[in-house]
Amino acid sequence: MSIDLSGKTAVVTGAASGIGESVAITLAAAGASVIVTDLAAQAARGAEVVARITELGGSACFHALDISDEQQWVAVMSSVREQHAGLDILVNNAGVVLVKPIEETSLDELRWISRINIEGTFLGVKHSMPLLRVRAQTNPAGASIINFSSAMGIKGYPFGSLYSMTKGAIRAFSKSIALEFAQLRYNIRVNSIHPGLVDTAMVGLESEKLSALGAMGTSTPEEMRRAFQNLNPLGRLGSPQELANAVLFLASDLSSFITGSEMTVDGGETAQ
Ligand SMILES: NC(=O)c1ccc[n+]([C@@H]2O[C@H](COP(=O)([O-])OP(=O)(O)OC[C@H]3O[C@@H](n4cnc5c(N)ncnc54)[C@H](O)[C@@H]3O)[C@@H](O)[C@H]2O)c1
Repeated sequence: MSIDLSGKTAVVTGAASGIGESVAITLAAAGASVIVTDLAAQAARGAEVVARITELGGSACFHALDISDEQQWVAVMSSVREQHAGLDILVNNAGVVLVKPIEETSLDELRWISRINIEGTFLGVKHSMPLLRVRAQTNPAGASIINFSSAMGIKGYPFGSLYSMTKGAIRAFSKSIALEFAQLRYNIRVNSIHPGLVDTAMVGLESEKLSALGAMGTSTPEEMRRAFQNLNPLGRLGSPQELANAVLFLASDLSSFITGSEMTVDGGETAQ
């Protein structure tokens, strides 16, 4: 059975690169009309993602969105209301990582990462809700929110404690909102997704920073990358497409009875 998202509208954050890019292309290939969003500084890459989707026969547009800026969320949702009159899928994918020993970490850094990872996720849920409710009224399978947490939102992350803290918050927030919406009979499903190590720029940055700290006995980014591969039973990094495949399922009507769940897509890392 192939997954059909035709007639659906999706907003994806952080979609100019990495996992978000694959998610946007995959949802569009399944027929959704996708609003590709990312920082204004990433507009050129965002336009390339839109061009790729259009080449493949899909429908997409780019909208600048810094997820930590409430006014920008208001602007994006007002444009979605004008263009589509409702929203079926929100993928809160954008996020940032910080790798640093705790004694060198400042309160400003905690505020920075919280503002993006936690506040950004909250703002996405809050401002998309009215439009998700419009579509949820006519779709028995419900509208769908997918929040990107991490394997590190379930287990500990030495030298990445603030990242782990924010991702744990997203996990708990997703469950609470899933229950709240269910009790209110909003028919909006909310699930968190927990990637393990996925081959993107983020892992490149982590490999550099962690190896410089000598984490896991490594001293170069290449050694760190190999150590990352051995962290999970499948013995390799995941691909952005493998994450997009999981998002596709949670976004579709096939996952109609799934809410409040945490989907690990981590090669078995958290099962150990
Ligand atoms: N790559 C991994 O191994 C991994 C593992 C676990 C979780 N994750 C999570 O998956 C998500 C995507 O990760 P990725 O690896 O593709 O990251 P990435 O760094 O490769 O890409 C992140 C994207 O988010 C955008 N972004 C950053 N700050 C933003 C902001 N304030 N507003 C809007 N967009 C912003 C960036 O411009 C970029 O396009 C993140 O939430 C990340 O925490 C990734």
